[in-house]
Amino acid sequence: MQKNKAALKPIGGYLELELPKGNEYYPDLVHLNTGRNALEYILIQKKYHKIYIPYFTCDVLLEPITRTGVQYQFYHVDRQLDPIIDFDIEHDACFLYTNYFGIKQAKVAELSGKIKNLIIDNSQAFFSEPLAGVDTFYSCRKFFGVPDGAYLSIKRKLPKKLPVDTSVHRFSHLIKSIDSGIEAGYSDYMNNNKDLENNEIRSMSLLTHRILSSINYNECVFVRQRNFNFLHKHLAEFNLLKFEATDEHTVPMVYPFLTNDRHLKVHLIQKKIYVATYWPNVFKWTKKNTDENYLAQCLVPLPIDQRYDLQDMFNMLNTLRLFL
Ligand SMILES: Cc1ncc(COP(=O)(O)O)c(C=O)c1O
Repeated sequence: MQKNKAALKPIGGYLELELPKGNEYYPDLVHLNTGRNALEYILIQKKYHKIYIPYFTCDVLLEPITRTGVQYQFYHVDRQLDPIIDFDIEHDACFLYTNYFGIKQAKVAELSGKIKNLIIDNSQAFFSEPLAGVDTFYSCRKFFGVPDGAYLSIKRKLPKKLPVDTSVHRFSHLIKSIDSGIEAGYSDYMNNNKDLENNEIRSMSLLTHRILSSINYNECVFVRQRNFNFLHKHLAEFNLLKFEATDEHTVPMVYPFLTNDRHLKVHLIQKKIYVATYWPNVFKWTKKNTDENYLAQCLVPLPIDQRYDLQDMFNMLNTLRLFL
């Protein structure tokens, strides 16, 4: 007798959190728990013996490298975030490049024609589609209010079935901020970040998957591009990082404003404009006179995401102008 599956589904009881039922942006990519574990997945699947990574990146990427025992070598990027490849890349090694702030797609395309075993870190470029044959990963929490989650574009999957992650224990900052404001949720955010460290590769939790299926991606794209272009119109002449306003394929994570004022970030934070440092570990990894050290100090990532309208951008711009 055929089992009636519907009969197994619980019916009734309390009502759950209601989220709109839509579609994910990358339904066909491998669903994983974190971006760093997506890198581990690639290293295991491709059996690389060595990886080149930029000094200008997040130190959590060392987790999968240490765990797999793959050798690594740092390389430099210049002040325009372009890689400086003044060495021979070993033929069976891989080369990781970050699509910085989501504005380096042209560089990604150029590298894909030159480097055999290229890996693209699109953690800051959620909407940049993967290039055919280029292993590419995404970390969802940099763009959306999710506790974790990653996508990976890779040709061949690992043969073993992965355990499924759970996210509920790292969710508190996402709901505390609704009740009590973004500042009240900050210490939870830091603790929940800590909880992402040194986890095994698992597939994306049902909770994160569900949230990612409820997002209006078209709206996110529209708002990010509009806010980015507004800031660029007013800040391009002061910005030491050179790039064009966005085209339809570019959906940045933030507006990267590069200035020689080493204190601008602190001034903005004092005015409640919470700008991050990408990345604090770069101060430990590099000497003071390097471009990466300068970028970590002086690059101001201005928020442009889907939470903000043009009035917010205008207010932020007016505050920023006090210090220009
Ligand atoms: C550029 C970059 N790549 C990868 C990661 C890792 O992503 P996840 O936290 O999802 O492991 C981070 C930050 O955490 C990052 O800043």
